[in-house]
Amino acid sequence: MKKLVACLMIGLGWMSFAYAGGDADAGQGKAAVCGGCHGADGNSLIASFPKLAGQGELYLVKQMMDIRDGAREVPQMAGLLTSLSDQDLADIAAYYAAQTSSIGATDPAMVDLGRQMYRAGNAAKDVAACTACHSPTGAGNPQAAFPALSGQHADYIIAQLKAFRTETRTNDKAKIMRQVAALMSDKEIAAVASYIQGLSN
Ligand code: HEC
Ligand code: HEC
Repeated sequence: MKKLVACLMIGLGWMSFAYAGGDADAGQGKAAVCGGCHGADGNSLIASFPKLAGQGELYLVKQMMDIRDGAREVPQMAGLLTSLSDQDLADIAAYYAAQTSSIGATDPAMVDLGRQMYRAGNAAKDVAACTACHSPTGAGNPQAAFPALSGQHADYIIAQLKAFRTETRTNDKAKIMRQVAALMSDKEIAAVASYIQGLSN
């Protein structure tokens, strides 16, 4: 798995090619309609709606394009992005990337297993350590469009890991997350999600 991770990281490196970037000030106005669910500054208050604050710009652009173009299904957002141009999406991404994510709490009963999964994975089952791609602090790898996870709602993380596991979310290039989630138990998913919710520097 270590070799696979290395290959994938090089392989996905292409995403860092000449991306012009967006205008955060212009993005703030364009994101007004999103605030009802994601929070005005991208810190959503509802656990099934992901926080967008402090998320990497490239990752945000990729997800919005995937949602707009149908590669990732988000029924709650149906039609919301259809009239937005690539520049609009870049501006919105720049706005959210410039905000600061709030951090939640980790359930003490799950912290040991959660930390172990995040930092070491599960070697017996060949589940890779999250830290390899999402970084020890949960900041992700913005240049490679590996998302930040730090502070994200545990309920949202659980939903995504289960969606990757059942292959209902398939917009991860090279099955990078489907392979990680495939062998995770419900207990491991719940623990790592709780750990991530309280993870910061
Ligand atoms: C009615 C509620 C709602 C509104 C309004 C909404 N979203 Fe979402 N959004 C969601 C939900 C729910 C998800 C996650 C669905 C899932 O579980 O996969 C999501 C996911 C996302 C994601 C992926 C986040 C990630 O971490 O992968 C992005 C980016 C996003 N929304 C951007 C926007 C933008 C930009 C707007 C405004 C133009 C918007 N959303 C409006 C509910 C909403
Ligand atoms: C080899 C690199 C790699 C490893 C290891 C990895 N991830 Fe990921 N992860 C990614 C990439 C890349 C994405 C973005 C996929 C996409 O573009 O939709 C992602 C997406 C995610 C998402 C969705 C984030 C969102 O906002 O919707 C979650 C949750 C996640 N990973 C959790 C984990 C956990 C937990 C582990 C460890 C058990 C882990 N990942 C290990 C590369 C990795």
